[in-house]
Amino acid sequence: MNTYGAHPFYLDVRKTTSSDGIFKNGTTHGVLLLNSNGMDVYYTGDRITYKVIGGIFDLYFFAGSAPESVLDQYTEFIGRPAPMPYWSFGFQQCRYGYKDVNDLTEVVANYAKASIPLEVMWTDIDYMDAYKDFTLDPVNFPQDKMKTFVDTLHKNGQKYVVIVDPGISTSSTYETFNRGLKADIYIKRNGTNYLGKVWPGEVYFPDFINPNSKKWWSEEIKLFKDILDYDGLWLDMNEIASFMTSSSDPNSTLDNPPYKIHSTGGQRPIIERTVPPTAYHYGNITEYDAHNLFGFYESKVTNEALVDLFGKRPFVLSRSTFVGSGKYSAHWTGDNAASFNDLGYSIPTILSFGLFGVPMVGADICGFQGNTNEELCQRWIQLGAFYPFSRDHSDKNSNRQELYLWDSVAASARKVLALRYRLLPHFYTQMYQSNQKGTPIARPLFFSFPEDTNTYEISSQFLIGRGVLVSPVVVAGAVTVDAYFPKGNWFDLFNLTKSVVAETGKYVTLDAPADHINVHLGEGNILPLQGEAMTTEAARKTPFELLVAFGSNGKSYGRVYLDDGESLNLRDKEQWTLVEFYGELQNNTVSVTSNVTNGKFAVDQKWIIEKVTFLGIPNSGNSSQFDIKEVANLTQLIGEQFKIEKPIV
Ligand code: GLC
Repeated sequence: MNTYGAHPFYLDVRKTTSSDGIFKNGTTHGVLLLNSNGMDVYYTGDRITYKVIGGIFDLYFFAGSAPESVLDQYTEFIGRPAPMPYWSFGFQQCRYGYKDVNDLTEVVANYAKASIPLEVMWTDIDYMDAYKDFTLDPVNFPQDKMKTFVDTLHKNGQKYVVIVDPGISTSSTYETFNRGLKADIYIKRNGTNYLGKVWPGEVYFPDFINPNSKKWWSEEIKLFKDILDYDGLWLDMNEIASFMTSSSDPNSTLDNPPYKIHSTGGQRPIIERTVPPTAYHYGNITEYDAHNLFGFYESKVTNEALVDLFGKRPFVLSRSTFVGSGKYSAHWTGDNAASFNDLGYSIPTILSFGLFGVPMVGADICGFQGNTNEELCQRWIQLGAFYPFSRDHSDKNSNRQELYLWDSVAASARKVLALRYRLLPHFYTQMYQSNQKGTPIARPLFFSFPEDTNTYEISSQFLIGRGVLVSPVVVAGAVTVDAYFPKGNWFDLFNLTKSVVAETGKYVTLDAPADHINVHLGEGNILPLQGEAMTTEAARKTPFELLVAFGSNGKSYGRVYLDDGESLNLRDKEQWTLVEFYGELQNNTVSVTSNVTNGKFAVDQKWIIEKVTFLGIPNSGNSSQFDIKEVANLTQLIGEQFKIEKPIV
């Protein structure tokens, strides 16, 4: 059923071993039907049927043959995922229904008081004057106080993001609206601007396909930046969602086509609660053809406008997406419910978006609709701390759910966000990897283990990068979790002395008391960590640590990408460093060697490695246990080539 976006793309991962050995388990290809029209897609296990109500059959095959190479090929074609600013990996707080600027100030202060890291504060439509984009409610969110609020955030190394909706109020005194009229950039129907209804009441919708819309939108964004110094924009309601249904045009079949797709899960009319299919865009492109592209074009134009305005890496979050949206925006999964069902469902949703080339993705932590509760919110922050995009957000009609409101949730938040912040170099390096090669940040298990066919079905666990395995509790009342471990040694990231040894892939029942989520590092991986902190800026000033995890072959590999976190492009001039790490365990010695590209940038930052921890060293006394070797108090510059070696006897 349709939700907020359209991605007619699938990944086929085969269970097959042919006698000639050409095909093996995990042989993968991808298929894109590049078509923006309404469609039904029927999947019956060994066959897919597309029933499409317009456009052409434009099918692309991506040969793979590993999942990673399909994503490389796919994102090369549709656009590589946008680079994301470093700060966007910090924890973020939002709510629909913050009363006024004091409310915002208190929330930020309460996070600090509870020692829970808060990187970004958001405001929903509440800040607007009568829900008009780019305006401030003069009573509850007056400009002088908002300015002080945002300046204070910035002084503390925090950021501020605001929502904008596509529905432009038609109030005759609203300048944004009037300038849009003058630029003539609204979507039309029957020769006049199409009138819809959203939060502000009657609205026109900008046509982002119209080349003139960019100038108008950029100007509005710029004018608003002078009013309020925001750091990113949140694009909502861009499916386009409308609160009314226009009547069908009797002279056209477009508003009510003969084949009824499964709109909204049933066969609802496609004209319902959106812009009518007979409305049209620049160049007489009908809404019938362009409907699914609105969020994509809005993201593109907004991203480009922010690039021009900021001169640095923009942050755009969009609800609606289409093939290629990842090049311009991050995504959140929309209005979920505060339920364990939706907590669990967030995992396959996020993993799917990784495969769609939109790797910066997260679900509303603790749940959007309905009242959350202590247990659910605790479990949700444990999981949400490992979403690529990590934001707590709730509906106006539901109880408050900031993480400090329950002692148990606050304690869990401190624990898991501490690990997230230590993992920031790893998250950021995965962002780099996705921008270069399309590899998702959060990945299904089969990505790293395509030959293990048991991994294909797993949608309640995932990997961050190649080897950090997250196994959350997604069931109410559970205090254990049945987690699948592909073959290898796995090291508990909260307690490195604990490990799971999987001689072959197997399910293991792990303890998961209320205050714990299981996160493991797989053998063969080297993880770059930094220290925990209250902001990403502070975390970036702490020394690095390497975790080097060995398996039976005594080898290990990892990498870290470093730059200023905000330059427009990754690998910008010489202002970045890539360090690859090679671990080795042999002749009773453990070592890690680096290979540095463009080391000067990191050397100039004086980033050092203070500690290396080697994991997975066989214990001579007990074959099922491992020794740990720590090399501490180092002052090794990360930007300089090195070899750190230590005997283990
Ligand atoms: C939509 C969004 C939600 C937002 C609300 C009010 O429902 O999905 O995130 O809070 O609108 O703007």
